[in-house]
Amino acid sequence: MIVAIDGPAAAGKGTLAKRLAEHFDLAFLDTGRLYRAVGHLVLDRGGDPGNPADAVGAARALDPENLDSVDLYTETVAEAASKLAAIPDVRKVLLAFQQAFARTPPGGKPGAVLDGRDIGSVVCPDADVKLFVTARAEIRAERRHKELQEKGLKSTYAAVLAEIEARDERDRTRKVSPLKAGDAREIDTSEKSPDAVFEEARAYIEDLSS
Ligand code: DC
Repeated sequence: MIVAIDGPAAAGKGTLAKRLAEHFDLAFLDTGRLYRAVGHLVLDRGGDPGNPADAVGAARALDPENLDSVDLYTETVAEAASKLAAIPDVRKVLLAFQQAFARTPPGGKPGAVLDGRDIGSVVCPDADVKLFVTARAEIRAERRHKELQEKGLKSTYAAVLAEIEARDERDRTRKVSPLKAGDAREIDTSEKSPDAVFEEARAYIEDLSS
């Protein structure tokens, strides 16, 4: 079983994806981590995330199996990720790894949950389940701001909101693999607890497979 979860930044995709993977005993891949890791590497090398040569070079140098060592959850890295994600050849390099993960999930699992921006449209267009998880920008900014503060990182609500809005605009309007709901079932998490979101998705998936 392949579950594709797409949506804008900080909408709750990761939380839902992890819970669904655990519940249905599936492997889990946060594809944003791949783009963030490339962004981190470009910045580390003193490169420009919007420059195709710098970004493709970093994408090729990445070991996708080994992304745990660095902190990828700063807004600087997120912005770099969003910029290089608009470069077609970067997406091509990362696509192969994502599709291999979905085809042969690690640990002998019977399927996988992938979350990102183009999972239902490009990476796994034949996914058994497609979800589009969204929430109002102000709510997403509040949640992300709180998360950053809890990690001890410097952040202001206004800066996080501006960054999230700029990133969404870039992710939605790029020519290659833009963020869109397509034929996915939409879940708006603005007024819902993580438990309620999980229950809605679980019921939808069980309905589909019965
Ligand atoms: O999900 P995230 O916020 O960690 O993703 C960081 C950036 O990576 C996001 O702004 C756009 C890009 N991304 C993408 O283009 N396609 C994906 N499947 C996942 C992430």
